[in-house]
Amino acid sequence: MKIIDGKAVAATVLLECQQEIAELLEKGIQPGLAVVLVGEDPASQVYVASKVKTCAELGMHSKKIVMPATSTQAELLDVVQQLNNDPTIHGILVQSPPPPQINEEEIINAIDPRKDVDGFHPQNVAKLVLEDPSGFVPCTPAGAMRLLAAAGIDTNGAEAVVLGRSMIVGKPMALLLMAKNANATVTVAHSRSRDLPALCRRADILIAAVGRPEMVKADWVKEGAVVIDVGINRIADPSKKSGFRLTGDVAYDEVASRCSAITPVPGGVGPMTIAMLMKNTLQAARQINGL
Ligand code: GUN
Repeated sequence: MKIIDGKAVAATVLLECQQEIAELLEKGIQPGLAVVLVGEDPASQVYVASKVKTCAELGMHSKKIVMPATSTQAELLDVVQQLNNDPTIHGILVQSPPPPQINEEEIINAIDPRKDVDGFHPQNVAKLVLEDPSGFVPCTPAGAMRLLAAAGIDTNGAEAVVLGRSMIVGKPMALLLMAKNANATVTVAHSRSRDLPALCRRADILIAAVGRPEMVKADWVKEGAVVIDVGINRIADPSKKSGFRLTGDVAYDEVASRCSAITPVPGGVGPMTIAMLMKNTLQAARQINGL
């Protein structure tokens, strides 16, 4: 059984980014990312801080905009509009989930699709469906695909099961796996699917992205399968100083021994999401500058 080291693969991706950034800087272009956080969700605060820190380490420009949890739709739309018009910013990310008074769909639609480094804007969703490489691929599924490639896993003709149908992970993951450069046979399973364990047992490649801690048990996994765990769940653990520990959507301890390869949580898909966000921001900086 092979443990796929997301930190190591992410480090490789960030090294590629460094090279690209040097080339852009030579042309007088400093790639810039704006991250908008509305409210005080502790997990979101950690993710946003990590994104901004990675920008700084790479010598990219970044802007962190923190807005109160009581912010209105109009106030957030105004911030997005300013970032759309800011020539120092090539990528815009509004951290999800926003507070309940915010209509997220309208916010996503307001982001300039050329700066939509999350790949959530309908124009970028369409480009993913059309396999048009000028679009932005959502960072987490892009990272999961890169992990499969780095681990030497051949997706061609494989049975892939994606557990979860979210706009952020499940749906784009399914599209990436069935695309002509991957050629997997894809099943998308979700909370209403009949007999989830049996569906998951079909998988040569199982992608768990439901956000339910340790839902995937040993008897859901075929012997020799590859398991990519996208879940990052906080569960109470009084023995930790923080009072919680992180766990995936897969019951790692019982599943790992059945797999040919598995991603751990933390240290699997998580670090890849940020690395792919940096890649997307560089793609935006290139494309906006006609490169
Ligand atoms: N929340 C969890 N994952 C993501 C992501 O990839 N992008 C944004 N904007 N919010 C998230």
